[in-house]
Amino acid sequence: MAKPFLSIERLTQKFPDGAGGTLTVFENASFGIEKGEFVCILGHSGCGKSTIMNVLAGLAEPSSGVVKMDGFEVSGPSLDRGVVFQNYSLLPWLSALKNVTFGVRARYPDWSKAKVEAHGRDYLAMVGLEGDVVHRKPSQLSGGMRQRVSIARAFANHPKLLLLDEPFGALDALTRGTIQEELLKIWSKTEQTVFMITHDIDEAILLADRILLMTNGPFARVAEAVEITIPRPRNRTEIVDHPNYYAIRNHLVHFLGHRSKELAGQQGDGEAQSPVSVRIDQPQSQSEDEEPVPPLRAVND
Ligand SMILES: Nc1ncnc2c1ncn2[C@@H]1O[C@H](COP(=O)(O)OP(=O)(O)OP(=O)(O)O)[C@@H](O)[C@H]1O
Ligand SMILES: [Mg+2]
Repeated sequence: MAKPFLSIERLTQKFPDGAGGTLTVFENASFGIEKGEFVCILGHSGCGKSTIMNVLAGLAEPSSGVVKMDGFEVSGPSLDRGVVFQNYSLLPWLSALKNVTFGVRARYPDWSKAKVEAHGRDYLAMVGLEGDVVHRKPSQLSGGMRQRVSIARAFANHPKLLLLDEPFGALDALTRGTIQEELLKIWSKTEQTVFMITHDIDEAILLADRILLMTNGPFARVAEAVEITIPRPRNRTEIVDHPNYYAIRNHLVHFLGHRSKELAGQQGDGEAQSPVSVRIDQPQSQSEDEEPVPPLRAVND
């Protein structure tokens, strides 16, 4: 079988636990992401989601294992991988606009200054930042505005892979909805592959092709890859009417509420730990008085 666009191979991350011992966050984690795929990862706080993302970004070295993108091993950060961090790290001495254009200039050295600036403004407008506000420094912006600048900055560079660590966490519900829709629009127009961490189950169902489910740490595992069998284009108000929606949602809630704990803390046997593929597809026509039973097909990759 052809290798996926992004291939995570036997990734292990251990840290000193602060008490003289070792904390194994995850061990031999293996999974793949296809080109153009939108993948969300769900798991409880502390299970190792940001740690995986830092390795994918090339910002942290794993204890062992490799990540390959387009067949090449990821080592160090690259303009091909755009990152939106959980704590939206902007450069504090640059304006919102310059935080965006900084990377664009590096990415497109042939572009004129005016073109770079117009491009930066376009992306800031896309996340609702227009006018004088683009000249403010991060310290003069609200938390939500800073988060929006960091989203615009990542998108403006057209990276092959977008890595998003809870990018909408600091946004109010209204802005969050608008930006989720913008993200879907940009993603459907481009060849970009997206790996996104979120705590929001509904957001994950709205956005993802597949949702990876992580068990609690230590020795966390990406236990399942759940296919989102709801056709696109999707919109927040309509997806809830799709017959698969609640079956998928219940499966995710049950995993996070129960199974993430039950499966936690098991040391591996040295083998690569790959997620089980789960596909939930309800029959389209259901009689009113029939109890819906989600036909659950688990396939081991
Ligand atoms: N540099 C580090 N040194 C030591 N321990 C670390 C380091 N980075 C992360 N950890 C530990 O690794 C575990 C996973 O952390 P990580 O930040 O990946 O969690 P997370 O799943 O992103 O959680 P959250 O949802 O709260 O953001 C935690 O126990 C954390 O304390
Ligand atoms: Mg995190």
